[in-house]
Amino acid sequence: MSKTYKIAVVNGDGIGAEIVPAGVSVLKAVAKKYGFELDTTELSWGAGYYLKHGAFMPADGIEQMKKFDAIYFGAVGLPEVDDTLPARDYTFKVRGELKQYVNYRPVKLFDGILSPLRDKTAADIDFVVVRENNEGEFVQTGKTMHPEEAGGMAMDTSIFTRFGIERIAHYSFNLARKRRSKVTNVTKSNTLINSLAYWDKVIAEVATQYPDVEYSKMYIDNASASFVLRPEIFDVIVTTNLFGDILSDLGGAIMGSLGLGGSGNINPEKEFPSMFEPIHGSAPDIAGQNIANPIGQIWSAAIMLEHLGEPEAANDIIAGIQHTTAKGNLTKDLKGTSTTSEVAHSVVAYILSEKMANT
Ligand code: NAI
Ligand code: MG
Repeated sequence: MSKTYKIAVVNGDGIGAEIVPAGVSVLKAVAKKYGFELDTTELSWGAGYYLKHGAFMPADGIEQMKKFDAIYFGAVGLPEVDDTLPARDYTFKVRGELKQYVNYRPVKLFDGILSPLRDKTAADIDFVVVRENNEGEFVQTGKTMHPEEAGGMAMDTSIFTRFGIERIAHYSFNLARKRRSKVTNVTKSNTLINSLAYWDKVIAEVATQYPDVEYSKMYIDNASASFVLRPEIFDVIVTTNLFGDILSDLGGAIMGSLGLGGSGNINPEKEFPSMFEPIHGSAPDIAGQNIANPIGQIWSAAIMLEHLGEPEAANDIIAGIQHTTAKGNLTKDLKGTSTTSEVAHSVVAYILSEKMANT
């Protein structure tokens, strides 16, 4: 009997309704080829749901999610909804309650795409941003007091725990062992002399348990410049929640478009389902036109299959993306003329044609 994965599919808002089905079509193609089943259930949650029901998901939404093997997600947020709510009431809630403490965000130059760093090749741009996803600067403990008054004040507090730092460090060193054995800790401990000095200390302690992995640290300002000037020095980057958020958008930009970046919110112990989404948002400015780039969403499907234990199917999706971009089959954000569905069809056609070639 073939293996069945139960996948919750959350399109969310904006271009999610276009790019998530594109990703699902690719998943169905590899499932067919590699002989496993996908039992998908659509959950129509997000800002659109909020406009109708006053919440981003039902009260038992997290409990519903726990029944799945993984969550395949677009993005949430709409111009007509208060934009402080989507992260607090949906994304951070899922990431936190399902203990998805790793945010895995690879950056890679695909064939046929001219990065702004155009004399760099695919061999120079191939690294992963591992973003601490459950604590740090985004814990949202703070307070706003008397905002309209002369004495108004606002405060957010960052929280870093030894437990939280150790687990993200172990994940990063283990990941490096499967890649090019290099970890760069991106920090700012010269100015955040309490929280990030502690972060550095705990990561350096973990590093001693991986003597085979080259370890170094770099400040966030230097790291930002180095993404553009010398991306080839990076393999695995481990960084905090806020820095990882910013650096991975910069990673998307050096790939050529935000629409290319895929990601995983991962609970490595598989105690709870992990959630896979592109690095960008719901892009309401281009929604409904079949022009959004589906590659980040499709790449997220590959990261999901890798996590579920289907590495061959995952590699096939990456090969399908490479084949599609190399042919110049690109959406408008990459100065191409292909539609969202044409790009997805091209990846699917490649996967299915390989099946013929193999048999
Ligand atoms: P965004 O990522 O949605 O869009 C930024 C720019 O990139 C826009 O010009 C957009 O057209 C372009 N873009 C994004 N994805 C693209 C794709 N696949 N193909 C082609 N072009 C693409 O970020 P923005 O505008 O700051 O936020 C829009 C909404 O998304 C907000 O409500 C925000 O809160 C939400 N958001 C949700 C996230 C999540 O659910 N994880 C993450 C980031 C933003
Ligand atoms: Mg972001």
